[in-house]
Amino acid sequence: MAENPELTRREFGRAALALGASAMLPGWMRAQELDAQPPSVSFSGPNSLRFHAAARGLLYGAAVNPALLDVDGVAAGGTNDIYALLVKEQAGIVVPENAMKWEGLRPAPSIFDFTQADRFMRSAALAGQKVRGHNLCWHEALPSWFKSTVNQANARTHLTRHIRTVAGHYRGQIHSWDVVNEAIDPEDGRPDGLRKTPWLELIGPDYLDLAFHTAAEADPHARLTYNDYGIELDSPDQTRKREAVLELLQGFKSRGVPIHAVGVQSHIQADGPQPGVGLKSFIREAGKMHLEVYVTEMDVNTHSLTGGPEAQDAAVAEVYRDYLTLVLAEPNVPIVLTWGITDANSWLNEMNEPWAKRKDGAKQRPLPFDENLKPAPAFFALRAAFDSAPPRRKRRG
Ligand code: XIL
Repeated sequence: MAENPELTRREFGRAALALGASAMLPGWMRAQELDAQPPSVSFSGPNSLRFHAAARGLLYGAAVNPALLDVDGVAAGGTNDIYALLVKEQAGIVVPENAMKWEGLRPAPSIFDFTQADRFMRSAALAGQKVRGHNLCWHEALPSWFKSTVNQANARTHLTRHIRTVAGHYRGQIHSWDVVNEAIDPEDGRPDGLRKTPWLELIGPDYLDLAFHTAAEADPHARLTYNDYGIELDSPDQTRKREAVLELLQGFKSRGVPIHAVGVQSHIQADGPQPGVGLKSFIREAGKMHLEVYVTEMDVNTHSLTGGPEAQDAAVAEVYRDYLTLVLAEPNVPIVLTWGITDANSWLNEMNEPWAKRKDGAKQRPLPFDENLKPAPAFFALRAAFDSAPPRRKRRG
């Protein structure tokens, strides 16, 4: 679906004007010029993902890099930053891509630096957005001092202090916390499927319950989430991993561990097999445990997709449509987030990994907005999937 770039600018101009920013608009966004534009396919305001999701009782959102946001400009009443305007318009919920990870908050063992994370919170508050916290306990993004500082004798203290301080700092302001990220990996060979992480090795399997209990005490208002990837497909590997995640969740429930949701990251390959009955029954099993299921990090990996840009965009849109149709049919799936919002800022275009780099050197096209911040076919697929989702009932309590 080809979009006229002028129309896209007009959309941003409208959004900027709505923010009271006309005095700061560049020439191409002045009001007279906007009015001179022909009518167009609109994607802002009532035509946004945020609005269409909300109309069904759903939340749509995205991972955001706070360093890219002109928070001071927005706070001062106007900004030229079209990325900030896009995030504000489209996302009803946001998650900091890296700013709340240990590495983002902990420059030294005794220091908590909330500068970037606080900027992010301010931006979300200005845009009236809910916030997901990501994450309190993970085997990656650990600071460089971790290895030489954290040992068997002090690991429990380090973990609980971190969770108490961070979740406590944002107490009452977080919709949901990814308390533990990616704790399952059957490939590590343990009968319980637990990944051999530093936390497991230093504390033992009890680190999981400890993390959730500590988070619940620090912020009793947040929905506490277990988040993982590679649990979407019907392949033998992913089926095994999904079963291990279910066992973990059942264990939490049977021990009275406070947990409210499971995050399915949803990094999907554009080519190859697509999710199906396995994921559907996983969502239903979670529902039987009174758990919500959040699509936490969706994007569509196009590193090995053949065909030109238009063919790739069509394939990506189809994956979004099929995936969201599958998961949104289940009533305990109230939230969809994409990992980033524009192809210009996708981690898939930043990672120097074989699963990220295209052979032809072109950029990946994984997200609802393209490199120029124009809506891609995926945007329309997401919006249509929200429109046809059964309306959610409000959660009680
Ligand atoms: C990624 C970020 O997007 C990158 O910028 C960073 O270099 C590595 O981490 N699963 C997760 C996210 O839970 O935290 C990861 O984010 C993507 C995979």
